[in-house]
Amino acid sequence: MAKLVRGFRDIFEPQSKNFTELENCARGVFSLYGFSELRLPTVELKELFIKSTGETTDIVQKEMYAFEDAGHRQLAIRPEGTPGVVRAYLENNFVQNAPVQKFYYIGNMFRAERPQAGRYREFEQIGAEYIGNSAPAADAEVILMLKDIVQRFGAKNYKVKINSLGCDKCRPLYRQTLIDFLSKEKETLCENCQVRLEKNPLRVLDCKIDGARFIGRVPTMQLCPECQAHFDEVQALLKGKIDFEVDPMLVRGLDYYSRTVFEFQAGDVSQNAIAAGGRYDTLIKNMGGPATPAIGWAMGAERVIMARGDVPVQAPAAIYVVSMDASCNQTAFNLMQALRAAGIRTEGGLFDKNIKGQMKQADRCQASYALILGTDELAAQEITLKNLETGEQKRIALNTLTEEVKKLV
Ligand code: HAM
Repeated sequence: MAKLVRGFRDIFEPQSKNFTELENCARGVFSLYGFSELRLPTVELKELFIKSTGETTDIVQKEMYAFEDAGHRQLAIRPEGTPGVVRAYLENNFVQNAPVQKFYYIGNMFRAERPQAGRYREFEQIGAEYIGNSAPAADAEVILMLKDIVQRFGAKNYKVKINSLGCDKCRPLYRQTLIDFLSKEKETLCENCQVRLEKNPLRVLDCKIDGARFIGRVPTMQLCPECQAHFDEVQALLKGKIDFEVDPMLVRGLDYYSRTVFEFQAGDVSQNAIAAGGRYDTLIKNMGGPATPAIGWAMGAERVIMARGDVPVQAPAAIYVVSMDASCNQTAFNLMQALRAAGIRTEGGLFDKNIKGQMKQADRCQASYALILGTDELAAQEITLKNLETGEQKRIALNTLTEEVKKLV
């Protein structure tokens, strides 16, 4: 039998309704903040992610679905949205025409990670990127917008952590301090961290194995005066509008971040980031554009849904239409369409089955009423209406059917 690929899922109702609900909620908030939708391609040149997400990141090193196409192009199925947004921004010349842009995107991302609860190989991200504004107001705006979506959707019990990773002036100093500190314990670091120590020492703080033991004793970042003033203002703007905690250990797993970074975390499990993001003030320049500041985030739809917990239940169809004879099928079908056109949730049409089979299906659909059409009824231009809860039934005229049914449901 055909089989699902490990780490991928089929999502049925009612779970699939959660996604629609979250997407609608996000769209509503995006429009309040003036963000416009950007629909991105699923496939990009592999090089795009190597250059932007970063060569030393887990995403690029281990998790990318990359392949060569028939034209010998090296492609990748997107593991995240930010590089595509920046590519689209540059390629469509927004730099010249309208440098300040607020984009949002909704789409599936792909990472060949080890599947576990809350971690999938195909997952949905809802993301936002605010390009062209270096002011702390942009940082506060995107963080509060994220809070508005998560809160409106109804996710509870999450913590907001923020940090500043400084800029090209202050980070190299910290990098060296960290290398000096961590080198003393090099032998005890996990295999990955021994490599990170040389290439990207900040990532050691983020390591699931080694990270925790450095809490409280690792030297913290000394920001340059500009970065400190920027971070202070971000915090001042957020104060009173959102509960947050400054966490010097929050470093994020992607290479392009500078200054403000943040995570919304739920629960105690390791896959606890329901949404995350930060500034990437040098990425656009590194990708060949002019120096352009930017900040953004992406939420993992599955994780935000998990953080809310409950699932909306689909209201059952109100009416189930049964045909007792082949000669009644067409009229029965037309009635179904007429009821739907009048805004009444209607099921039926299993006319290949006998009346018992059709009534069983009405039961499965949890319909409130059955409308039963037989040759007798059709000759009299009537139909039998049966209350499926009480078993009561009566005949009603076909020409008043929609009005009569509307009174009931
Ligand atoms: P990220 O931290 O890699 O950042 O992913 C953002 C969110 O996507 C995570 O917080 C998590 O909720 C969700 N996520 C990531 N991997 C998985 C997975 N395997 N299964 C389920 N959910 C997952 C980014 O992707 C950046 N592009 C965010 C950003 C936008 N930064 C600036 N702008």
